[in-house]
Amino acid sequence: MPKIPQNVRGARFTGWGTALGHKTVTNHDLSLTIDTNDEWIRERTGIHRRHIGGSTAELSVASGRDALAMAGIAPEQIDALVLATTTPDRTVPATSATVQNLLGLRCGAFDVNAACSGFVYALVNAHGLIAMGAEKVLVIGTDTLARITDWQDRNTAVLFADGSGAAVLEHTQGPGQLLGWDLDADGSAEDILFCDIGGNIQMDGKEVFRRAVRIMVDSAQKSMAHAGVQASDISLIVPHQANIRIISAACERLEIPMEKAAIVIDNTGNTSSASIPLALFDAADKGRLAPGDLVLLVGFGAGMTAASAVLEWGTQ
Ligand code: COA
Repeated sequence: MPKIPQNVRGARFTGWGTALGHKTVTNHDLSLTIDTNDEWIRERTGIHRRHIGGSTAELSVASGRDALAMAGIAPEQIDALVLATTTPDRTVPATSATVQNLLGLRCGAFDVNAACSGFVYALVNAHGLIAMGAEKVLVIGTDTLARITDWQDRNTAVLFADGSGAAVLEHTQGPGQLLGWDLDADGSAEDILFCDIGGNIQMDGKEVFRRAVRIMVDSAQKSMAHAGVQASDISLIVPHQANIRIISAACERLEIPMEKAAIVIDNTGNTSSASIPLALFDAADKGRLAPGDLVLLVGFGAGMTAASAVLEWGTQ
């Protein structure tokens, strides 16, 4: 991937919001209907509970509305909506069109489907729109995986859930927050994680695990190289929340201590496109980020896709 040219029009976050599925489902709840147990799920995945329910548009509107309120801007001021989702509410139109209407936006809107790498793909695209002249872009990552999960399949039912995270990105006069980025895909691996139209998620968990660590590390290293920073410069790593063991293996290989990782998987499960914004804005809300901190976002997902970005934290 190319490096960001000098003097490009930069952008920074000015507001964010998050939303989770309406109903909380604990590991114990799952053990009442499938052959699993709380101890196995916690130890093998790091998940304690998840939240399911709500459509992709509904959750997107909830997080998007909060992001607009925090940024203090009116819906009609947004120049573009980019919605990352792998679970659109309809095949046609794009769910971003529904969200555009419900939020009262007056701008172009499109979906990005890069599975669990989706938010980083959308964020890089949003920075590109601002580089091309847009002033304010709303970026949302939402997935409602509960709708495509077979709740009788213990291989997948323990992992997936629903959530949304949104951010307002605004053009800034000074340097922008995006220092380096990388978007990857290896379509030859599509058969290890997929969902046919009208079907449920099918997954070779071991193979996904094996590849995930490798592609996360590879993508993160490319972004850091493009940004001209070392792993030791990173204040916070925000990995896709798929399995705590994948996160810890990736952190170990990147030589970034786990204490620097943003973790919400215990409470959220795997929410695909929502997982990185949920973890990032949870860390921000908890005061874990100071202006100038370097943040490494890194996702992977079906495709298989991978995506990463190095951001310099600091709202406008
Ligand atoms: N509850 C209880 N036992 C379970 C179980 C469950 N939900 N699922 C599998 N088991 C059992 C298996 O049958 C096996 O039993 P055995 O040893 O008697 O044969 C044992 O637990 C170990 O199973 P295994 O499949 O080796 O577990 P694992 O450590 O590979 O963990 C995953 C399974 C799915 C949690 C793990 O492979 C994973 O997270 N993979 C990546 C998936 C992912 O990230 N997908 C989304 C990508 S965006």
